[in-house]
Amino acid sequence: MREKFAGAQIALHWLTFLLVVTAYATIELRGFAARGSWQGYALIITHFSAGATILVLMIARLFLRTRHRSPPIIPAAPRWQTGVAHLTHTLIYALFISLPILGLSSRYLKGREWWLFGISMPVAAEPNFDLADWLIDWHETLAPLGYWLIGLHAVAALFHHYLLKDNTLLRMMPARRRDR
Ligand code: HEM
Ligand code: HEM
Repeated sequence: MREKFAGAQIALHWLTFLLVVTAYATIELRGFAARGSWQGYALIITHFSAGATILVLMIARLFLRTRHRSPPIIPAAPRWQTGVAHLTHTLIYALFISLPILGLSSRYLKGREWWLFGISMPVAAEPNFDLADWLIDWHETLAPLGYWLIGLHAVAALFHHYLLKDNTLLRMMPARRRDR
């Protein structure tokens, strides 16, 4: 049986990681840009674009999971750790699929011009401000959960690597040239 996740899974995992950092960093930094400035627009458009790409990548990753069996952890982890890992992964998928959907649908219903990758996006012919505000309120309420989930996920990976010294993290690392 394979020792690592499939190459496409590894590539998409680390690409998602970079985009998640971008989505959080751009929205946290927006406070430093003057309202209406080009820097402010650049930050928010990058936030929207990174977020929309995360949605596509998370769906692609779910598809890849149906095609590739996860490689075993050696030595095997206790059942409770496997249970916590499955729960965390499920919550990560649920959150990083819901957040972009909430954000995108809110922008659509708001009726104001908005962009992805600098391209103007469609808006509802009849805006629904209440629903748009409700959706973005949920987006803003749920988004901080991501810090905790990814924090827990990353600490667990490092704990496995440095303290338990198993292959959990190595399974998700790109292959070195001589390993191929
Ligand atoms: C996984 C992807 C995403 C993450 C992790 C994320 C995260 C966040 C965070 C942390 C905030 C700030 C919450 C606060 O200040 O309390 C925020 C705000 C916001 N996000 Fe996202 N977001 C994502 C995707 C999107 C997408 C795809 C859109 C829309 C196309 C979007 C639109 C917004 C808007 C409009 C705000 C409020 C900005 C403001 O009023 O200052 N987000 N997001
Ligand atoms: C420093 C950051 C990160 C590290 C060290 C890390 C490490 C890992 C490792 C070692 C695995 C395999 C775990 C196992 O099979 O039990 C894994 C799987 C996974 N990671 Fe991460 N990760 C990081 C960031 C992220 C981010 C930002 C996301 C998503 C937004 C993410 C989502 C996932 C998911 C959903 C899985 C389950 C396997 C899959 O479906 O592809 N990770 N990660």
